[in-house]
Amino acid sequence: MSDPIQSFYGRYADLYDAIATAPGVARWRRTAADALDLSPGDTVVEMGCGTGANLPFLRERVGSRGTVLGVDLTRPLLERAQERVDRAGWENVAVVQADATRPPVACADAVLGSFVVGMLPDPAEAVRDWCALADGRVALLDGTSSDHPVGALANPLFGAFVGGGAPADGLSASVRQALQTRAAREGLDERVGTARATLASECVDRRYDEHALGFVSVVSGRPR
Ligand SMILES: C[S@@+](CC[C@H](N)C(=O)[O-])C[C@H]1O[C@@H](n2cnc3c(N)ncnc32)[C@H](O)[C@@H]1O
Repeated sequence: MSDPIQSFYGRYADLYDAIATAPGVARWRRTAADALDLSPGDTVVEMGCGTGANLPFLRERVGSRGTVLGVDLTRPLLERAQERVDRAGWENVAVVQADATRPPVACADAVLGSFVVGMLPDPAEAVRDWCALADGRVALLDGTSSDHPVGALANPLFGAFVGGGAPADGLSASVRQALQTRAAREGLDERVGTARATLASECVDRRYDEHALGFVSVVSGRPR
């Protein structure tokens, strides 16, 4: 597991699952699943499904006749997702190890990307590909810095959460930490912003839902 994303998430799979399913997060996931306008019998793909925290919300909307496919690169996270599927006894939910930037399916009714576009080297290309394969809606659930008058006060804390581990040698510890967190936050904001702008240009019937004082948003639309 040499890829930094896979080794990071692989090491902290249990911790990530606890955060991903923390009280309060379910509300964001419900909003994201609702933004897809799924109907019973639909097929929905989640790109970068992690431990499968969105799967219950997607399965609930497509029902027993629909299909849910979770795609992720990181094996230990997929194992948690598979355990979730097995525990629930869902026969129409599958998870596969694959690259979301080279989707393993050619078409689906809807596509969800949840806290993943900020990790992709070319988020615009990925979102264009996801829009091309969706017959229905595409939704992106992400965290970014906040523009909210109160939320913005906590942007440095958000930066610390996002960027604790980025390298910046040859500086004092406090300066290094400030630069790291700011750069990590700005990098995330830029990638998520690019993904959202691409979705906006590819889609009609766009919707925007904001949570957590502007730190978390769901952007969705129907590809033209
Ligand atoms: C922050 S987690 C989000 C997991 C899940 N979507 C959620 O909402 O809890 C990001 C996930 O994206 C996955 N990931 C990152 N780049 C990927 C890629 N190119 N293809 C597939 N999965 C990817 C990581 O392995 C990780 O599971």
